[in-house]
Amino acid sequence: MKILVTGGTGYIGSHTVVELLKAGYEVIAIDNFDNSYPTVLDSLKKITGVDIPFAEVDIRDKKALKAFIKATPGIDAVIHFAANKAVGESVANPLKYYENNVGGTVNLLEALQENNINQIVFSSSCTVYGEANPPVDENAPIPVANSPYGNTKQICEEVLRDQTQASNLQVVALRYFNPVGAHESALIGELPIGIPNNLVPFITQTAIGKREFLTVFGDDYPTPDGTCIRDYIHVVDIAIAHVAAIKFLEDKKQASAFSVFNLGTGKGNSVLEAIQSFEKVSGKKLNYKIGPRRAGDVVQVYASCEKAWNELGWKTERDLETCMKSAWDWELALAK
Ligand code: NAD
Ligand code: UFG
Repeated sequence: MKILVTGGTGYIGSHTVVELLKAGYEVIAIDNFDNSYPTVLDSLKKITGVDIPFAEVDIRDKKALKAFIKATPGIDAVIHFAANKAVGESVANPLKYYENNVGGTVNLLEALQENNINQIVFSSSCTVYGEANPPVDENAPIPVANSPYGNTKQICEEVLRDQTQASNLQVVALRYFNPVGAHESALIGELPIGIPNNLVPFITQTAIGKREFLTVFGDDYPTPDGTCIRDYIHVVDIAIAHVAAIKFLEDKKQASAFSVFNLGTGKGNSVLEAIQSFEKVSGKKLNYKIGPRRAGDVVQVYASCEKAWNELGWKTERDLETCMKSAWDWELALAK
C-alpha cells in the first residue's frame, strides 16, 4: 500500500514514516515546513536508507493540494498529522488554528473524495476529554473544549464522522495522550521552537543548560505527591500504532466507518516522577523549583487502552525511563 503522510517531517510524522517503511509500506510525505525542517528528510534517509518521496505542499492551499494528489497516482490511504498544536497560541490566534487545522482537513477530504481515496488516520488528542475521571476510555463525554486548539480536534473528528456518512470514507481517529521521547538513533525527535511549553523538552533543555531551571507548575493538586499526572507515551510506540491503524483499515476490521482509539500506556506519572526518571537515566541532577499552578492544566489524565489493545492489536513497549533516555540522547545530539 502507498500511504500519504501529511506533516511528514514533523515530530510524530517523521517517526511514523520510519515505522511505515519498516513494515513494508510505500510512503509519500508532504509538509510546508511551518514547524519542521527539510533536514529531517536527510535524517530519515540515514535511518531508513530510503530517499523519502516528498513534496512541499501547504494543505491550506486547496488548489495546490488537489493538484498534488491528482498527480500522485496509487495513494491508498492517508495519515493526517499536519496541524498547528500550540495551545497558548491558539487562544491568542484562534483563526490561524481554525483555518489550518479545520480548513486544511476539509481541503484534504475534498481532494481525497475527488480522487476516490477512502482511508484516513487522523491525529486527535486526549485534550478532547478535558478534566475526566481516569482511566479515560473512548466513551468518556467530550466537554466544551478548553482551547481553540482542543476545539479544532473535536470539530475535525465531527467533520470526519459526518463525511463517513456521506461517502465511502473510512476513518480511524487516534487520541494521543502525552507523546514524548525520540528515535533511538537520536537522528529525529521533537524540535520545539522558542521556549518549550511541554514538560520533557523543558527538562532536557534545563539539564543541558539552555534554561536555568524548570518550574513545576503546582504541588498542591489532589494527587499523591501534589503534582499533575499524565500518561507519557513514547513517540515510537505512537508511530507503531499508526501502522496498526493502517493495517486495521486495510484488513477492513472496523465495525463502523468511524473508529476512535486512545493511544496511551494506561499508566499515569506525576511531574515529580518524570523528573526523577530523567535524573536516574541521565545521571544529572535537575535544577527545578515549585511554582504556581498553570492556568488550564487538568489535574490528572491517563488512558484506558483496552480498545486499542483488543482491536488494533497494539500495546506500548517503551517505559518512562526509555522515553527520558531517548529524549536526553536527542538533546545531546542537538547540542552537537
Ligand atoms: P509537529 O508540529 O512536529 O508536526 C506537524 C507538521 O505539520 C509540521 O512539520 C508542520 O510543518 C506541518 N504543517 C503544519 N501546518 C501545515 C500545513 N498547512 N501544510 C502542510 N504541513 C503543515 O507536531 P506533532 O507533535 O508531530 O503533531 C502531529 C499531530 O499530532 C498534530 O495534528 C497534533 O495536533 C497532533 N497531536 C500532537 C500531540 C503532541 O503532544 N505532540 C498530542 C496530541 C495530538
Ligand atoms: N509542566 C511543568 N512545568 C513545565 C511544563 C509542564 O510542571 O515547564 C507540567 C504541566 O503542568 C503538566 C505536565 O507537566 O502537569 C505536562 O505538561 P505538558 O505541557 O507537557 O503537557 P499537557 O498535558 O499540558 O499538554 C499536552 C500538549 C497539548 C495536548 C495535550 C494532550 O501540550 O497540546 O498534551 O495531548 F493537547
